[in-house]
Amino acid sequence: MARETWATRAGFILAAVGSAVGLGNIWRFPFITGQYGGSSFLITYLAFVALIGFPAILVEFVIGRRTERNPVGALRELGSGVWAYAGWLFVVTGFIILSYYSVVAGWFLRYTLIGITEGFTATDPAAANALYESVSTGLDTLLFHAVFMALVIGIIAAGVRRGIELSVKVMVPAILVLLLGLAAYGFTLDGASAAYSYYLAPDFGTIAANWTEILPAAAGQAFFTLSIGMGVMITYASYLGEDRNLAADAGIIATLDTLVAVLVGFVVFPVLFTVGIEPGTGGPGAIFVSLTSAFAGIPGGRAIGVVFFGMVGIAALSSAISILEVLVSYLIDELGVARVPASVALGVAVFLFGVPVTIDLVFLNLYDLLADGILLVLGSLLLALFVGWVIPDIAREELRKGIADIGGLGDAWIWAVRIPIVIVVIVSLYLGIVDYVGFLTGDFAEWLAAR
Ligand code: PHE
Repeated sequence: MARETWATRAGFILAAVGSAVGLGNIWRFPFITGQYGGSSFLITYLAFVALIGFPAILVEFVIGRRTERNPVGALRELGSGVWAYAGWLFVVTGFIILSYYSVVAGWFLRYTLIGITEGFTATDPAAANALYESVSTGLDTLLFHAVFMALVIGIIAAGVRRGIELSVKVMVPAILVLLLGLAAYGFTLDGASAAYSYYLAPDFGTIAANWTEILPAAAGQAFFTLSIGMGVMITYASYLGEDRNLAADAGIIATLDTLVAVLVGFVVFPVLFTVGIEPGTGGPGAIFVSLTSAFAGIPGGRAIGVVFFGMVGIAALSSAISILEVLVSYLIDELGVARVPASVALGVAVFLFGVPVTIDLVFLNLYDLLADGILLVLGSLLLALFVGWVIPDIAREELRKGIADIGGLGDAWIWAVRIPIVIVVIVSLYLGIVDYVGFLTGDFAEWLAAR
């Protein structure tokens, strides 16, 4: 059977935007922005998206379009020696990420449902926290994880055009419309002006004082949010049948993804400032606890909460499908398995691997710190080294196709990939490893000892 391709350019762009826009923008972005002082993090992150993220998307695009293969096959075709095996890393990374991504996405589905059936009533943080604890582990959590994975499997089993392309044409515009509505609502709140100055007033002093933490956090966020480092963009670009302007497409994708993250700040910070909650306290659960108690205390909060959590659920779905597609494309291309059985088998395996996360949150850290802090970054490093130093001529030639006049762009790009990206990624990788070792010998060791 001939390999599928996107039906339209818009379909490809929307699929890539759908992959990029996800929990990273809506759940991770506000809490780490809060943690690193608002505007100072925002500026650094914007710089990283432009200088590092955009060239890194192109790295994956050229590999995918050139080979028209899944990431494992693509690297085997272009590289020899160890490079031929590098694609395996992406399969492992994707498997781990999807397993917990789906559990967290399930929390959002559950919050949406709670908003519809009961509303948000927990105004004090202790009650909101109790709700979060009941949502984030247990049998119901498992059930919502299963529902979410079933949706992902359904879309991927339907194929590139009838599954991914069709669904993102509905999901991505829906996310944008809902988000614009929410940001407009944020503007009407009492806390809006305090929130805007916290979020937008540039504060270079804070950056200078904390750059060792802000820089790697911003770099990691830029990679994660753009779905870079595990072959999603390789896979999606492999379904481009013809030569389009990859640089223009990558620019649109990076811009839309960033716009969404920035807009989320325009929703979350005014809501938090209105009820007097300090952003950036408390980590991953904080956004659930602080937002549900905020929704309980602001006018129209119930409806706004339902729209917000529902929108996050959609955004998570359009990202999760891209991860399963990487795994499925591998089985289809390399082992000749048909799409439907490949989707079901891998989806069920991922579901099972995620089950521990629904039982104890220590597994969320165990998976996330490894996949996100180490494997994704390692993937980006390998790709940058490969394209920058092993196949620069092929890469430059591939980038040129579909661009009428490339000028010095090709060389500037290769040099950005060769040195700055490699340096930033190595520093992030080092910090990620330090973090993980700290976790394994600290929290995780304690957890094990308590068994
Ligand atoms: N970009 C997605 C988000 O922001 C996460 C993701 C990472 C998706 C890696 C695919 C691959 O939520």
